[in-house]
Amino acid sequence: MKILLVGNGAREHCIAETLKKSKQSVLYSYLKSKNPGIISLSKGFETGDYSDLNKIKSYTHKIKPDFAFIGPEDPLSNGVADLLISIGIPTIGPTKKLARLETSKSFTRSLLKKYKINGNPEFGVFDKKNIGNAKKFIDGLSQCVIKPDGLTGGKGVKVQGDHFRTKKEAFDYCSEVLQAHSFVVVEEKLEGEEFSLQCLTDGKTAAAMPPVQDHKRAFVGDKGSNTGGMGSYSCENHLLPFLEKKDIEEGLKITQKVANAVYKETGEFYRGIMYAGLIKTKYGIKLLEYNARLGDPEAMNVLPLMETDFVDVCGAITNQKLNKIKIKFQKKATVCKYIVPDGYPDNPAKNLKMQNYIMLLLNRRKMGFTPQAQGLLHALG
Ligand code: GLY
Repeated sequence: MKILLVGNGAREHCIAETLKKSKQSVLYSYLKSKNPGIISLSKGFETGDYSDLNKIKSYTHKIKPDFAFIGPEDPLSNGVADLLISIGIPTIGPTKKLARLETSKSFTRSLLKKYKINGNPEFGVFDKKNIGNAKKFIDGLSQCVIKPDGLTGGKGVKVQGDHFRTKKEAFDYCSEVLQAHSFVVVEEKLEGEEFSLQCLTDGKTAAAMPPVQDHKRAFVGDKGSNTGGMGSYSCENHLLPFLEKKDIEEGLKITQKVANAVYKETGEFYRGIMYAGLIKTKYGIKLLEYNARLGDPEAMNVLPLMETDFVDVCGAITNQKLNKIKIKFQKKATVCKYIVPDGYPDNPAKNLKMQNYIMLLLNRRKMGFTPQAQGLLHALG
């Protein structure tokens, strides 16, 4: 099985490792920038931009993969899945139209509303013409969340109480968002524990992977800027300390209904990942957002636990046979912790060697060299 993997991050390295566990797989990769981990697992690779559809097309023609797996949101929003499908390559990853579940917060909220699917908070969508109404809407909410209607690398959403205090600041941020985006979504702020439910889908059936909790704030104690995710964990029993089985069932039910709704809306089956960002509130499970890809770091929590051959799982997605296989995960707890450069995420220091950087961190924090840290330093040479 020749597989083309698109993506260059830690998440895609983890996807590559999981695909490589299968004896059937021969991996090729297309990366925005070189990742030695992915390259060492690949029989061949090409580097280039995710918007360079001609380059991706000619590399695909060269290697003739049996299927492709698209990791990050950028190639999805640039239409790489549309391109691959149009040249006959079965693809894990939604087309541009379907990826709107992630790229357009207003699309997803309106879809849930139209198809009467549970999980929406109170929300309003505003543009430059009706921005005046946003003020009244914000005034009617006890606290609000402001979301740009587009991709922002996890850093555009602002929450009252965390990132700003007053309703005036909320309104000012709406105006700021509309300088760069066509729409802004204003939502009632939900209180509760957040979790990530990454689901695989072939467009007809959705299957949930073990839930994960991701911690997004840059500093200890949930302080500092929002990041893509600083660290995450999952539990041995495939629940989280604040979750019951029925909560997972509800999250999956929402996702199954959304998969059906996007088909009705677009006439296209969604083949790929529907990662639901959910929150357990006192009113039940609510949807914060969808991502059209695996989470980073959450992929690292679940993929290494997968016992079922991942290539078979991908085949079941592309052939719409997900209802025919049982996907098994080891009963183990996992923890993933990112080490990031100083200044991350706003102004990260560049060109520091990881080894020096880890020494610096350990010294600065007056930490001893634990066996794990020694192991890490040793592994880095
Ligand atoms: N960890 C959050 C995300 O992948 O969007």
